Amino acid sequence: MPIIASNFKTNHTRKTTKEYIEKLNNYLKNSSIKNEVLVFPTSTSFDSFYTVSSLEIGAQNAYCTNNGSFTGEIGLEQLEEFNIKTILIGHSERRHILSESQEDIAKKYEFYKQQGFKIVYCIGEPLEVKNQGLEKILEYIFEQFIGIDINYSNLILAYEPVWAIGTGVTATNEDIEKIHSAIKEKISKPLLYGGSVKVENVRDICQIANVDGALIGTASWKVEDFIQIIENTKDLK
Ligand code: 13P
Repeated sequence: MPIIASNFKTNHTRKTTKEYIEKLNNYLKNSSIKNEVLVFPTSTSFDSFYTVSSLEIGAQNAYCTNNGSFTGEIGLEQLEEFNIKTILIGHSERRHILSESQEDIAKKYEFYKQQGFKIVYCIGEPLEVKNQGLEKILEYIFEQFIGIDINYSNLILAYEPVWAIGTGVTATNEDIEKIHSAIKEKISKPLLYGGSVKVENVRDICQIANVDGALIGTASWKVEDFIQIIENTKDLK
């Protein structure tokens, strides 16, 4: 059963997040969906949502601390208030726009691992690396595992090529298959694909060998579309 995840990024308000989660939760409750569904809203929209067990709310980011003096950040204490036990780490927007280093990311990973969080760990190459061919792509991706305990039991990976994120350009099925199988050969963890996944292509993508689900940005921000994405994958193994 594919794992289907929505990353809100910097979208939705407290009010619209609540509406979204209520609609999604009602849909999951009333249909016999077995998919694991994850939603990562903005941290300002966290709340004590009532959700069915297949729906988990996660954090897009948090600092590696319980609490303290880290202006602008949230820590474990703020996540625990809402019983959040899932976190995205290593997203390319944090690596490339917010300048998080591999060292920062590894520290964060270790901290949330110690707390037993489900970690969705993102990896993926930028366009200039893609253009250098498969060998360089894999070299780049495996460097993103420096300092990361790949044997952690509560780990999900997400391969998100940077050039495919928010661009409408999805990697070809052939590219996805090649890269996913190379990653899986070394790391036997659930592996999602992300990068311009949408209602129309999610089913095909989730049927590629070694793809265990999808992490979706833009096409998941309307709840009706996200529900359709789940509908389109619900019968897949
Ligand atoms: P898009 O679906 O908008 O390409 O974003 C993918 C992504 O970054 C999910 O984390």
